[in-house]
Amino acid sequence: MTTPIPVPTERAILITGCSSGIGRSLAQGLTARGHRVFAGARKEADVQALRAAGLEGLQLDLDDPESITTAVAQVLDATGNRLFGLVNNGAYGQPGAVEDLSREALRRQFETNVFGTQELINQVLPVFRAQNAGRIVQISSILGFMCLTYRGAYNASKYALEALSDTLRLELRDTDIHVSLIEPGPIRSRFRENAYREFRAHVDIAASAHRDKYAAVIARLESHDDVPFTLPPEAMLRPVIKALESSRPRPRYRVTVPTHVFAPIKRLLPDRWFDRLLALLSD
Ligand SMILES: NC(=O)c1ccc[n+]([C@@H]2O[C@H](COP(=O)([O-])OP(=O)(O)OC[C@H]3O[C@@H](n4cnc5c(N)ncnc54)[C@H](OP(=O)(O)O)[C@@H]3O)[C@@H](O)[C@H]2O)c1
Repeated sequence: MTTPIPVPTERAILITGCSSGIGRSLAQGLTARGHRVFAGARKEADVQALRAAGLEGLQLDLDDPESITTAVAQVLDATGNRLFGLVNNGAYGQPGAVEDLSREALRRQFETNVFGTQELINQVLPVFRAQNAGRIVQISSILGFMCLTYRGAYNASKYALEALSDTLRLELRDTDIHVSLIEPGPIRSRFRENAYREFRAHVDIAASAHRDKYAAVIARLESHDDVPFTLPPEAMLRPVIKALESSRPRPRYRVTVPTHVFAPIKRLLPDRWFDRLLALLSD
């Protein structure tokens, strides 16, 4: 049995990508814990749905700099220029073999998962610096430290998120602003459904040298069955609470069995041996 984490005094926390999955679950869980949560969603209908559920929904599209600026201003206006935590959760996966990814598909993947996310961080950092306090929680992935086939754009975006986070942590080492990466394996959400939409929109499946293998990719993306070791989105709450509330948060929190198992294996095995292992897991 895990020990309960003591409940803190209310703190304002902004979370991106709360229309579904992990973001929605974190918004509910952190609100229930007594935090003041600002739950970002990019579509107006989702903002309304969040409000109908009793959450402080606000419009925030990571692809749109103006939306980011407006959302930060709204949060600071509502809190008297105070913000304790930023949870960067909003993201999507662009499936497809690396050779099938256009510059545009790669650019879109990075616009959301990397550039928009970093722009948001850079907009809240002056507030964190003025307070000399703040927590940045980056929802990364097991694919932030190991790569699986047909996920090259997403792998690269999460590696980039990890590199920016590791750098930022060093650059903030003299402050009480902490950056933590959360690295989940499979979590139940709308991730596959959203990824399938992007696959169809940006990959010419019929023209691909990989078209035969794409049948398995499509089967995976269309399936609603859990892959082994899948956890519900609620499993993310505890590590996020630790990253937000510990006086000395860890740089990384791993979630799900595959992440715990593969992180040390990746460090120990020579690359070619690790490739052989990854090939077994690939589509
Ligand atoms: N599920 C997994 O197995 C898994 C594993 C490892 C890591 N993760 C990470 O967990 C995080 C949450 O994903 P999830 O599994 O909960 O998937 P999800 O259900 O698809 O949720 C993703 C959220 O990100 C939002 N989003 C997408 N593009 C956005 C943009 N331009 N601006 C703002 N928000 C945007 C989505 O909004 P819309 O509804 O408008 O598209 C949605 O709210 C992501 O960072 C993902 O990479 C997930």
